[in-house]
Parts: sequence; C-alpha cells; structure tokens
Amino acid sequence: MSKVKLNTVTMVVTLLLLAETCAQISKKKSTSSKPVRAQCCDDVRALKVQVANMTSLLEELSRKQDTDLKNVARQIMELDKQSQQQDARVTEAESKYSEINNRVEIMQLQTVQSAPKTSSEALYDCASLYNKNYRISGEYKLPKDEFLGVPELSVFCDMKTNGGGWTLIQRRKIGIVSFNRDWKQYKNGFGSVRGDFWLGNDHIFRLARQPSVLRIELEDWEGETRYAQYGFFTLGNELNSYKLFIANYSGNAGDSLHYHNNTNFSTNNQDNDKCLDHCASLRKGGYWYNCCTDSNLNGVFYRHGEHTKNLDGITWYKWHGSLYSLKRVEMKIRPAGFHS
Ligand SMILES: *[C@@H]1O[C@H](CO)[C@@H](O)[C@H](O)[C@H]1NC(C)=O
Ligand SMILES: *[C@@H]1O[C@H](CO)[C@@H](O)[C@H](O)[C@H]1NC(C)=O
Ligand SMILES: *[C@@H]1O[C@H](CO)[C@@H](O)[C@H](O)[C@H]1NC(C)=O
Ligand SMILES: *[C@@H]1O[C@H](CO)[C@@H](O)[C@H](O)[C@H]1NC(C)=O
Repeated sequence: MSKVKLNTVTMVVTLLLLAETCAQISKKKSTSSKPVRAQCCDDVRALKVQVANMTSLLEELSRKQDTDLKNVARQIMELDKQSQQQDARVTEAESKYSEINNRVEIMQLQTVQSAPKTSSEALYDCASLYNKNYRISGEYKLPKDEFLGVPELSVFCDMKTNGGGWTLIQRRKIGIVSFNRDWKQYKNGFGSVRGDFWLGNDHIFRLARQPSVLRIELEDWEGETRYAQYGFFTLGNELNSYKLFIANYSGNAGDSLHYHNNTNFSTNNQDNDKCLDHCASLRKGGYWYNCCTDSNLNGVFYRHGEHTKNLDGITWYKWHGSLYSLKRVEMKIRPAGFHS
C-alpha cells in the first residue's frame, strides 16, 4: 500500500516539474511562435488535469489506508479480548479442578479421621502416617499435641514419590495465590495445602527438628521434570531468622540452593539478606535470599508465554537460568531415617 502511495507521489511530483518546465518554455517562447505556445499551454492544461487526477487518486488511497488501519486496530482489539476471555476460562477451569480435587481429598481425610487412634502413636508427620499404613497421597489432618504444644495442622502427604512419607512444605501449580507476603504470613503459612501454599516457617522448623531430607521437584512449561534432593535439611528458629542449612545434594536439576545455604529468611517487610539491595522486594517473595538468588521458588507465578521475561519468577538457575519461571514446584520433607 505505502509503495503504491510513494509511486503516486513521485508521479505527481514529476508531473508538477514537467508542468513548471513547460510553463517556463512557453514564457520564453511567447514572443516567437504562437502555435508552440498554444500547444505547450494545452500540454500544461492536460498535465494539470492529470495532476488533479493523481491528487484525487492519492486522497482516495490514503482514505483507504485509513480504513485499513482502523480495521487492523479493530482486529487487534478483538484478539486481545479473546485472549482475556481465554485467561478467564483457564482460571475458571483451575478453580474447578481444585474443587474436584478437594472433594476427593476430603473423602480421604475422613477415612483417616474415622480410623482409631491410640495416644501412644503420635501422628507427627506424613512419614508416621505412612508407617500407620496410610498410603494414599492427599490432605491429612495432624492432631494437636498438647504435650509438645503443637496445634492441629493440615498437611499434604506425598505417599508415592521415591518411597512416599513426604510432608509437603510448599507447592506452586495454579498461580492464583500471591507469594509476595510478609514475615508473619510466612511464619504461620498461607494458601491451601491442596493448591498453592507455604506451610509456614514455624511448622517447617518444628517438622525438621528431627534429621530430615528435603526434596524439590520442578516442572517446566514443556512438561519436563527435574528434582533436587538434600540428604540434610534444617531451619533455625524464628530468633535465628529461620536460617537455612542444607547438605548432601543429589538429583538432576542442579544445586541451586547451595547459594542460599546459611542465609536467613527474608520477606518484603524483613530484610535479612546478604545484600545492599532488598532482595525480597526485588524478587517478590519470601525466601533465604543471599544477594539475591540462584533459585526463587517463592517468586511470581508467570503463565506460559510470560514466563521468560522477568527475574522475579519461580526460577532455578542451574536448570533454566534466571529468566525462566517454572510451571510447577513442590518442596517436601521426610525424616532422614525413613524406610518405606
Ligand atoms: C482523469 O483524467 C481523464 C482524462 O485524462 C478523465 O477522463 C477522467 O475523468 C479523470 N478522472 C478524474 C477522477 O478526474
Ligand atoms: C552427607 O553424607 C555423608 C556421606 O553419606 C555423611 O557422612 C555426612 O554426615 C552427610 N552430611 C550431613 C550434613 O548430613
Ligand atoms: C541472621 O539472623 C540472625 C538473628 O536473627 C543475626 O544474628 C545474623 O546476623 C543474621 N545473619 C545475616 C547474614 O544477616
Ligand atoms: C552448607 O553449609 C554447611 C556449613 O554451615 C556445610 O557443611 C554444608 O556442606 C553446606 N551445604 C551445601 C549444599 O553446600
């Protein structure tokens, strides 16, 4: 379209120049021969008509281009609307999915609660449930223990992976729950154990007082999965800012937690990192920020297509670098001596 327009402009300019030249010639020759002048003036007139012709053609073309532009703009807006509707549909599907999931898991939970309990057998974590022959992955309610001062706690148990007995401490999969939260929320936990959640630093600290193994499972947007496992995992208490200790890495995701070893926990309102920057604000999560990240598992959940553009996503440097936000994460622990 623009090429046509350009050509037309060139033609018009040429014609104008021709007309100008012709007019000059006719002026010069005005005294000598009349027929030449008359012919020349006719030529000029014809040229002028053609110029007028071209001008109107140009106007028509530019009008057409305007409507074309408007049409394109309308199409873009339409596409935008469609993608928004698609997003809404995805969200709706996700909440339906977790609802169905909930119902299934509530049934499992009821089975557990109707089972007889003896006070001597403390249900301390998913490993002790496993040892009492609960072998279905799902939500379980650990009863409160007044002697230990432990409140009732909903947990999600993975009874399948690598022998089972895992208590989940974190999950990212749906992306609706925000992980940009303050110290108190990270202390007590948030989200739903059947969806996206953080179990809570106090609970994690308590569960990991016995020698524990940490397993981190990751999935990317191509559906590939990797894991990182630490044979030793423990946290400091709140007075020690829930400082992280890990050791004895194994797995195929690469060790992107090593950099966070021996660092305090930080949140958007408590900066305990080893950096001048406020990492929790920059990376928008609560985590054991160093200066700042080699992994950011409590970062921002970005959807497919948006997942490679930001440093504050759910990242694991050794697998996908610092700009790739993962699709799914689970962090889970079990006692070091666990045997299934
Ligand atoms: C363009 O010029 C031709 C004569 O050369 C004429 O017949 C025609 O009507 C003109 N068109 C316009 C749009 O002026
Ligand atoms: C790591 O593993 C080695 C070999 O199994 C073991 O000797 C060591 O105690 C482990 N380290 C920790 C901190 O658990
Ligand atoms: C970690 O926190 C503890 C206590 O909260 C503090 O004494 C220590 O200096 C902190 N370490 C770093 C590296 O900030
Ligand atoms: C973490 O630091 C401790 C020392 O505090 C060390 O023993 C351990 O090997 C470190 N873990 C990793 C994964 O480097």
